Amino acid sequence: MPQYDDSTITEAVLASMARCDDARFRQVMSALVQHLHAFVREVDLTEAEWAEAVEMLKATGQASTPQRNEFILLSDTLGVSMLVVQLAQRRKAQSMQGVTHATEATVEGPFYWQDAPDMPMGADLATEMPGERTLYQGRVTDIEGRPLAGAMLDVWSSDGEGRYDVQMAEPRMLGRGRLRTDADGRYRFWSVKPSAYPVPDDGTAGAMLRRLDRPNWRPAHLHLMVRADGHVPLTTHLFARDSDYLDRDAVFAVRDSLVVDYVRQPAGTAPDGRKLSEPYSLVSYDFRLPAARA
Ligand code: BEZ
Ligand code: FE
Repeated sequence: MPQYDDSTITEAVLASMARCDDARFRQVMSALVQHLHAFVREVDLTEAEWAEAVEMLKATGQASTPQRNEFILLSDTLGVSMLVVQLAQRRKAQSMQGVTHATEATVEGPFYWQDAPDMPMGADLATEMPGERTLYQGRVTDIEGRPLAGAMLDVWSSDGEGRYDVQMAEPRMLGRGRLRTDADGRYRFWSVKPSAYPVPDDGTAGAMLRRLDRPNWRPAHLHLMVRADGHVPLTTHLFARDSDYLDRDAVFAVRDSLVVDYVRQPAGTAPDGRKLSEPYSLVSYDFRLPAARA
């Protein structure tokens, strides 16, 4: 009968996977076992602590519903989601130059809703949402600055009080829409200026953040997916420069290059001819997509 002690058990588990013919799965599982065992040794994990960890995972599953995945929130707040996003963006671009010149990606988050309505250029996506009117405009180009005509922007955000439509008592799509760029790669739409908001804190991720004395807030941001044929799809945010929590995002998703000015404008006629009786904001941002690997 084979006997394993605490110095040989890791090798034994690794050897037990030798017959797996899925090479990638074996690689991932072997690394997972090695890191997990090293972690247990490093902190000299007690039985009570491991039992607590197992209970936490169980509670994470129990807190999850078809509308809410507490595991994703754990992954987000542990920085894993953002790390995976960054590795993916690098892997998908055709060249390192593409990676360097591309608009940076961030996490998708839990509030994306497929099949947002198609909107015409210049439409207001958030007519029924509270918050300061904001005109978002710019271009979608490749990394050389050539316009990408017909690129699709799929946009969503919280309102000016930090609430998403999906969090309302009777959710219906608000502050969402899909738009296409014109022949010069230009886009233009109205929405609100979002505000900072707390990620849900009534599950295991929230309990972990409290115990670590970490804020559960995200800085104000607008979400976008940008897609163009033959180019690496982008999921990203635009962050408001004057928001709190830019330096303490609960999910580590802020990139300097995605922080934008909401430039306050007096009431009057906006650049697209719309007449506003209240002050509004203007945000200008160009998205650059690298060519995708063939
Ligand atoms: C969000 O931006 O919508 C979000 C991202 C990660 C966790 C919670 C919310
Ligand atoms: Fe968000």
